[in-house]
Amino acid sequence: MIYEDLRGKRVLVTGSSSGIGAASAIMFAEQGCFVGVHYFRTKTGGQKTLEQVKQHSEGILLAADIRDEKQVSQMVDEFTKAAGGIDVLVNNAGDLIDRRTFESATLEYHENIYATNVRSIFLATRAALPHLRKSKGNIVNIGSVAGHHGGGPGAGIYAAAKAAVATTTIAMAKEFAPYSIRANSVFPGLIETRFHERFTTPEKKKKIAQQTPLKRNGTAEDVANAILFLASNAASFITGEYIAVNGGLYMRA
Ligand SMILES: NC(=O)c1ccc[n+]([C@@H]2O[C@H](COP(=O)([O-])OP(=O)(O)OC[C@H]3O[C@@H](n4cnc5c(N)ncnc54)[C@H](OP(=O)(O)O)[C@@H]3O)[C@@H](O)[C@H]2O)c1
Repeated sequence: MIYEDLRGKRVLVTGSSSGIGAASAIMFAEQGCFVGVHYFRTKTGGQKTLEQVKQHSEGILLAADIRDEKQVSQMVDEFTKAAGGIDVLVNNAGDLIDRRTFESATLEYHENIYATNVRSIFLATRAALPHLRKSKGNIVNIGSVAGHHGGGPGAGIYAAAKAAVATTTIAMAKEFAPYSIRANSVFPGLIETRFHERFTTPEKKKKIAQQTPLKRNGTAEDVANAILFLASNAASFITGEYIAVNGGLYMRA
């Protein structure tokens, strides 16, 4: 147990059928939280995360395409009926979808990237807001180091969408502060999850690890640790801020 204040909190983690979301869901359960495990295409992944959640606490499995207004609103309703409210919303679901250059990308690809990585945060947050107002809860959004440096080859449109996560977080922090709701984000570097199994060769991953000052790529748990910190009272005076979890791959003054 690391964060005593998280015990009994109701936490909805989008995209917790895999990777960073799954690790976060399990870590919240370890603190004694009631966890909403959300999936879209990978039901078995969601079921596996929920099984692990239930080894420590309680939770519920939720399905939704995070781009779809109706499905997201139903997901939030289902969660709040089961949990009795929401204390923490982790907007983690997101995807690179494919590597496409600006020159080769279709309009459909561009819209899909923004719907998956930016619209998703708007829809889930708006649906959860009445509940977060009651609980004086908080929000953690997931960006990417790509949002700082423009991304690798074919990841420019994704990078721009992830940069929008930073500004969305600041704007939400301002708008929701009068409700005592905090909003922060985490910007991961290269994290070894299914994401890079699909989009990055083992050679490239090795090369990036060598270029990283801490000489390794990140784990989903590295990112989950930052998410839990921001969600907990340890971060009670932090809002509109981001934590970069990238092993020093990209540092800023
Ligand atoms: N891995 C990295 O190096 C890295 C770096 C920077 C930022 N990030 C960001 O971190 C977040 C988690 O990524 P990850 O590495 O954990 O990847 P991952 O293992 O591929 O997991 C992605 C999660 O997002 C969900 N998702 C994707 N599209 C969705 C949609 N349309 N509707 C609902 N859910 C959707 C997936 O659900 P289903 O599989 O059930 O469809 C899955 O649970 C993403 O926002 C990603 O952009 C990752």
